[in-house]
Amino acid sequence: MLTQDELKTQVGQAALAYVVPGELVGVGTGSTVNKFIDALASMRTQIKGAVSSSEASTQRLKALGIAVFDANAVGELSVYIDGADEVDHHGHMIKGGGAALTREKIVAAQSCRFVCIADESKLVQTLGKFPVPVEVIPMAVQRLVRQFALQGGIATVRMKGDAPLLTDNGQQILDVSGLQITDALAFETEVNQWPGVVTVGVFAHQRAQVCLLGTSSGVKTLNF
Ligand code: 5RP
Repeated sequence: MLTQDELKTQVGQAALAYVVPGELVGVGTGSTVNKFIDALASMRTQIKGAVSSSEASTQRLKALGIAVFDANAVGELSVYIDGADEVDHHGHMIKGGGAALTREKIVAAQSCRFVCIADESKLVQTLGKFPVPVEVIPMAVQRLVRQFALQGGIATVRMKGDAPLLTDNGQQILDVSGLQITDALAFETEVNQWPGVVTVGVFAHQRAQVCLLGTSSGVKTLNF
């Protein structure tokens, strides 16, 4: 029986097969992506570099000698590799457990293909057991808490110590529990247009086309 950490290592390494030599790769954020970044070091000389979705991933990439490019300085990327908090059988995901959802969605939107890497515990029938992270403008927090309550959701401000956690963009995160997201596209579309919402952590418009799922019997590839 492999540990969750070993499953993450397995899919991080498997994702190398989707990296296109000679090109840039979009890189997500999180503990699974950290395994991918570590594996990517072995391809350092074969790729141009990376576009990163967070300060944390940028630091890790640079420490391993992988060049990091600004998203505005490059065009479309062939592939974006990232983890997920939940993924369903349509490639829809909940993301943002690492608070990097906005930049993750930007780099995903700039990429032709989203390859999700996750251990098998992340595969679900219906999204929503994992609280949905939403990046919000601080002055809208209490109104958005009430708006989620009308949908049956309980939204709480993510804290770091005694103060609200601030994202790389200087905004706050609401974690919304109690939701059952049966129509991920409609949910994402609706919440995204609420005033004060920067990004909702449901990735249905930017869904995964491939998911590499770490299981104790090896890496399972799901194509959506
Ligand atoms: C960060 C994310 C991560 O991809 C997600 O939280 C999964 O993280 P991990 O690989 O550590 O389980 O969306 O904002």
